Amino acid sequence: MKTFQKIRLVALLLLTALAAWATRSDPASTGYEFIPDMAHSVPYDAYAPNPVTRDGKTLQPPVAGTIARGGPLPFHYAATAEDAVRAGRELRNPFPPSPAVLARGQTVYQTFCAVCHGLRGAGDGPLIPKFPNPPSYTSARLLAMPDGQIFHVITRGSGMMPSYAGQIAPEDRWRAVAWVRALQAGALRGPVEVARK
Ligand code: HEC
Repeated sequence: MKTFQKIRLVALLLLTALAAWATRSDPASTGYEFIPDMAHSVPYDAYAPNPVTRDGKTLQPPVAGTIARGGPLPFHYAATAEDAVRAGRELRNPFPPSPAVLARGQTVYQTFCAVCHGLRGAGDGPLIPKFPNPPSYTSARLLAMPDGQIFHVITRGSGMMPSYAGQIAPEDRWRAVAWVRALQAGALRGPVEVARK
């Protein structure tokens, strides 16, 4: 091998070693940024620590008592029997039982309630007897129960019955209440056939 060839080889090896060192991967390093443009925002990111706020978080919870525009109104009734009665006294069904309201109420009822309460509300849904019998809607107690209390039962649950607040929007709960009232009225008139929707 000629001398200049040796020098070329050594220079090449050195260059390769240098390149390997320069481009070594460091897991902690973000590497060299070429023209980062707007990759880094000037304001604090939503989940980034924040030296300005009191709790050190950037994302702040809404001020206590805030109500989201267009969102559901807060329901100031606890899951207690007393508050169920109070809801019955204080709340009115905002939906008059129009055909559209009843149709929607029937759909909601048959989707969420009929499995336990039965299509006609007799307390004989297909989940019975695997689940304890709910009372019939034509029991004296449920005939006398105000709309607002039924709304409370759907929202907060009652005894063995779980809350359906997470599944049914407040407006649809009222429509389901209207359908329960229609079932009661129908059952009082005589045996009713309720179509499965
Ligand atoms: C998982 C079965 C189940 C489902 C689904 C269910 N319920 Fe009930 N419901 C019950 C049981 C059990 C009771 C009796 C609980 C109790 O001790 O108050 C009951 C009680 C009730 C009562 C009477 C509460 C009282 O104070 O006597 C009403 C009204 C009622 N349910 C309405 C509904 C409506 C409307 C739906 C649908 C949104 C629904 N339920 C869905 C099981 C269910």
